[in-house]
Amino acid sequence: MGLQVRISYRKNRINAIILLEVIEMCDVEVRGLEELEEFDIRIPCRHNPKLEELVEKVNRNNELKTLWMVQNVNAVDRKGYSDHGPVHMQIVANISLKLGRMLFEQGVDSSLVKNYKGFEKEDAEIVLFLASIMHDLGMSIHRYHHEKNSLFLAKDIIDELLEGLYGECKSKVIRSEVLHAIYSHRSNGEPLTVEAGIVRVADALDMEKGRSKITFENGSIDIHSVSAAAVDEVVLDTGESDKVEVLIKMNNSAGIFQVTGLLKKKLENSGIEEHISIKAKIDSRDGAQILEELNLE
Ligand SMILES: [Fe+2]
Repeated sequence: MGLQVRISYRKNRINAIILLEVIEMCDVEVRGLEELEEFDIRIPCRHNPKLEELVEKVNRNNELKTLWMVQNVNAVDRKGYSDHGPVHMQIVANISLKLGRMLFEQGVDSSLVKNYKGFEKEDAEIVLFLASIMHDLGMSIHRYHHEKNSLFLAKDIIDELLEGLYGECKSKVIRSEVLHAIYSHRSNGEPLTVEAGIVRVADALDMEKGRSKITFENGSIDIHSVSAAAVDEVVLDTGESDKVEVLIKMNNSAGIFQVTGLLKKKLENSGIEEHISIKAKIDSRDGAQILEELNLE
């Protein structure tokens, strides 16, 4: 007997629904996997051949893609949370790489490069990418302790993906750095590396309204979904200061909760807070404007 599984799917910032028919569950045969297979992670590889090869491997890895689907069923359909599926993975990976490159260009040291011999910034990008796309794998089991559960799910996949890209010792160092970043994205996480801090902040910066559209329309009305619906755009810029400036454009003051209630907690103790400034700009189109601007230094 068929079973329909719905995953929330944001593509080009537009939410759509993919209906996947799952049959013969014991054989883990998923009819409709074609739709999932069609989803390819796209990130700017910027002349990083290892990263380019890794992205290709990820896009051929159906175990990973299937876990992204499962973690989103638990998050969206069963818990009423915002998108935690493949598009969230793509967005977090893009933000992590963008933020990481900006920080490295500003002179912030990669912990991988600083603490180990034989690694370059390009290898730090490998850590950022892998941690970004695997940080929520544990949601495929349960929301609770998902950061810990992500670790054993990610371990073998990381080994498989790194095979042929690095020798044994280097691949184990990278694996450790990735697992550290995954573990440190929990609410009281204390990242010990710059890379882990970046992934922690990037995860919180996926806050544009498309992420919560499905849960909002499904009737999950709370401060999380309402505040997320108020965020139009998140822009990263190096600006004229020595910090990376994060501008959050919102259409309603309710969006402030995303900044003070969620992002602020992830930024604190991230280890990179001194290199980032956050500004929220509120343009209330209905005229009922409570705040115009908020700065977090
Ligand atoms: Fe996440």
